[in-house]
Amino acid sequence: MRQDYLDEYFTFLRFPSVSTDEKYAGKVRECADWLSKKLTNVGLESKVVPTKGHPIVWARNEHRKGRPTVLLYGHYDVQPPDPLDLWDSPPFEPVLKNDYVFARGATDNKGQIISHIFGIQETLQKDGDLPVNVDLVIEGEEEVGSQNLGKFLTDNRDALKCDVVLVSDTGMIAPRTPTISYGLRGVAALEVKVTGPKMDLHSGIFGGAVANPATALARMLATLHDADGHIAVPGFYDDVVPLQDWEREAWKKLPIDADAEMLGETKAPALFGEKGFTTLERIWARPTAEVNGMGSGYQGPGTKTVLPSYAMAKLTFRLVPNQKGDATVDLVKKHFEKNLPPGVTLEMVSGHSGPWYLTDPNSKYGKAAQGALKKAFNKDAALIREGGSIPIVSDFRKILGVETLLIGLALQDCKAHSPNENFPLENLEAGIRMNQAVLQELAG
Ligand code: BES
Ligand code: MN
Repeated sequence: MRQDYLDEYFTFLRFPSVSTDEKYAGKVRECADWLSKKLTNVGLESKVVPTKGHPIVWARNEHRKGRPTVLLYGHYDVQPPDPLDLWDSPPFEPVLKNDYVFARGATDNKGQIISHIFGIQETLQKDGDLPVNVDLVIEGEEEVGSQNLGKFLTDNRDALKCDVVLVSDTGMIAPRTPTISYGLRGVAALEVKVTGPKMDLHSGIFGGAVANPATALARMLATLHDADGHIAVPGFYDDVVPLQDWEREAWKKLPIDADAEMLGETKAPALFGEKGFTTLERIWARPTAEVNGMGSGYQGPGTKTVLPSYAMAKLTFRLVPNQKGDATVDLVKKHFEKNLPPGVTLEMVSGHSGPWYLTDPNSKYGKAAQGALKKAFNKDAALIREGGSIPIVSDFRKILGVETLLIGLALQDCKAHSPNENFPLENLEAGIRMNQAVLQELAG
């Protein structure tokens, strides 16, 4: 790995560009400025476009008639690093250990997007030109649902006219195994708060007479699933497109032991999920209802005999074709209202939501990507779906009218969103090769 590449990658990682927390807003901005300057130095025309939230970095080469235009999308924002005490080294002080880089964003998505930038840089140095027209759109709000990117696409629809979108923000099924993801799940968020008494109460004086909001919340949340892991909200599965036989068969043949890998990676005592489906089917093609966080009452050291005033939970739902975010959340709201225990009140606030995506990996551009991956990795590409979400991808179709190729570089153990996030240098190098092969192949 070239030392200057490593230095720049590390500089990129040192910005704590956490999009969800206002206190990092200045750092997010600094990161965008640095990135835009980097793209200018590479030889592209680049600017930082302000939005109502965090800015977008937009760079392009000189567009010439008669060759395809590729929009390369990624994000420079990252998830919060918490919990800090579980990191072996500080999240924003990148370190190289045994050819792995450890830092928040190492994989998701700074490592992946910078490999494309290095790929472009090398091609420009070597050939003085790229084989295609490119637009790089690198946003700062992916991890919070890309609220302002849709407007940017609409506002710049003509300038962003392109033939295909390229995204490296998904996974590889195994090391050195190129992977095209032809599906993503959608996501919809909901926050609930159950309130009882006006303030926290003495549990000896009031306990038994006043409903406990923490217990009420637990009972309510427990109605989300049945014992077999099916979601028990009436109507939740009505729009779910059943898995096709060919997909079931193809996924069974993938060269991975998903269950063993999941157990090894998570260290969970056992796997659990909706009955009647394999692990990969549950993640890639079935919806879920997850509690992301809960809070209520006393959580400090020791004990405190208190009856909490309220209890809250943050939920997200992963959605699959053809579920709709708003309609699904509405079903859950109705279900919670019906299942609210007595003696408490309930407030519910919907959060961000982003649609699922499904495309044809054997389209003209899909075939080109498969060819390029074969060249870059010397191996046939695996075709998979993903359980994660990249909300803007469906907008590329809706607003720009183009399909997206998802060719990711993240490994199962890269620990995206977790402590000790990491990226192997091998994948950074593969990303550089992949970028060059794909642009070449898309040029025809
Ligand atoms: N890179 C991920 C998306 C992803 C994860 C794709 C796993 C494939 C497999 C992306 O940065 C991400 O984390 N997205 C969020 C979106 C949400 C906050 C709206 C997600 O999936 O939780
Ligand atoms: Mn992410």
